[in-house]
Amino acid sequence: MNAANPSQALEHAFAVLRENDRGTYTVPTKGLYPFQWNWDSCLTALGLAELDEDRAWTEIETLFAHQWPDGMIPHIVFHVPSDTYFPGPNVWGTNRPTPTSGITQPAVAGFAAKRLFDRAKDKAMAAARCRALLPKIDAWHRWFYENRDPHGEGLVAILHPWEAGRDNSVDWDEALAQVPTTGIAPYTRRDTDHANPAHRPTKAQYDAYMWLVEHFRALGWDNSRLHDASPFQVIDPAFNAILIRACTDLAALADELGEAEIAARNSAWAQRALPALDTLWSAESGRYLARNRVTDKLIDSQSIGGLLPVFAPIPAVRCHAIAEHVQGLLKVLNYIVPSHDIGTAGYEPQRYWRGPVWLVTNYMIADGLRNAGELAVADRIARSSLELITKSGFAEYYDPKTGEPLGGGRFTWTAAMVIEFLRAQEAELA
Ligand code: GLC
Repeated sequence: MNAANPSQALEHAFAVLRENDRGTYTVPTKGLYPFQWNWDSCLTALGLAELDEDRAWTEIETLFAHQWPDGMIPHIVFHVPSDTYFPGPNVWGTNRPTPTSGITQPAVAGFAAKRLFDRAKDKAMAAARCRALLPKIDAWHRWFYENRDPHGEGLVAILHPWEAGRDNSVDWDEALAQVPTTGIAPYTRRDTDHANPAHRPTKAQYDAYMWLVEHFRALGWDNSRLHDASPFQVIDPAFNAILIRACTDLAALADELGEAEIAARNSAWAQRALPALDTLWSAESGRYLARNRVTDKLIDSQSIGGLLPVFAPIPAVRCHAIAEHVQGLLKVLNYIVPSHDIGTAGYEPQRYWRGPVWLVTNYMIADGLRNAGELAVADRIARSSLELITKSGFAEYYDPKTGEPLGGGRFTWTAAMVIEFLRAQEAELA
């Protein structure tokens, strides 16, 4: 479905949201992803708010209704059975009342809650919904620092590439190569039934993903044991920056709502994490680099994971370097921001997180650049995003050179981000 002008684009975006709405949660797109995903839902809530504020809060509340007793918010909630997705509830074996996966995803909830609150037309309702959500989001943040930063360095590790939300990024190649793949149960992938296998992760990557799932399942999904027992522990700058932004936003929100303890705690986490994040900056690459905690080495990969930290309150000089880098990509690409830099090792323009443009990462980078006063580049990213949906519809991701739509179609968070970009454009014109 193409969209030729802003009002058509908005209508199309609303139609995609309605189509993927299951009443109290949305699915990313039917068929390929028939359940509720963590960061998809939180970002989708921003778009839903334009249709119905009450429904937007419900989206996040439904996710948090499935919080684990230890504080973790799982990456998938399997609300209803479906055999179009692998790995399903039986493979995860997490023994939750409503089945969920056993790993987490980027912590965007704190950011989303603040943004919804700030924009709410119904402030009384927003305050009440936020008061109930605050302790739950706070408990999730605590969970991260307790379970994923056992030595208190201020940076948390992901234990599975799926936790980063950038499943097959080049960033994980080196660490994933250390994950064994022998002994895993035979399995049949379902993603390649819905999307071109050339645009998806490889079989070798999938084997390692499944080994990790089976390994953690054998440990009873006991989060106090998983970190040290995992052969894959990667400190992703993007994942950490999103958590820092969420802590900062939650602190501001808690402060506004008179929750002093939550405010102080979250602000302290962010203050401790920011200098630690800065140790990942690479002057040579003009971006942050991931660190393999197992080998204690930085990972030399020119990916979007190193640009996304602009979403957090990082120093202005870093924001400026990132802005210049993104601007420079337009010399060699028609659409920005690619998930991996063209011309560097590992770049594949059509394979998922190894090159394609995703609107959700565009949104976070543009938001960070805007906050840092880098308005021209932020606007340029928004323009690229809207050009992509105009040309190719609401796809899961896009080829940065041709703009070709890739992966699943009629994608919920793509639609939500379009609503956000159009909203910003309208605000600027007003
Ligand atoms: C893919 C993406 C992940 C997203 C999920 C549902 O696994 O890599 O970020 O949350 O699909 O859209």
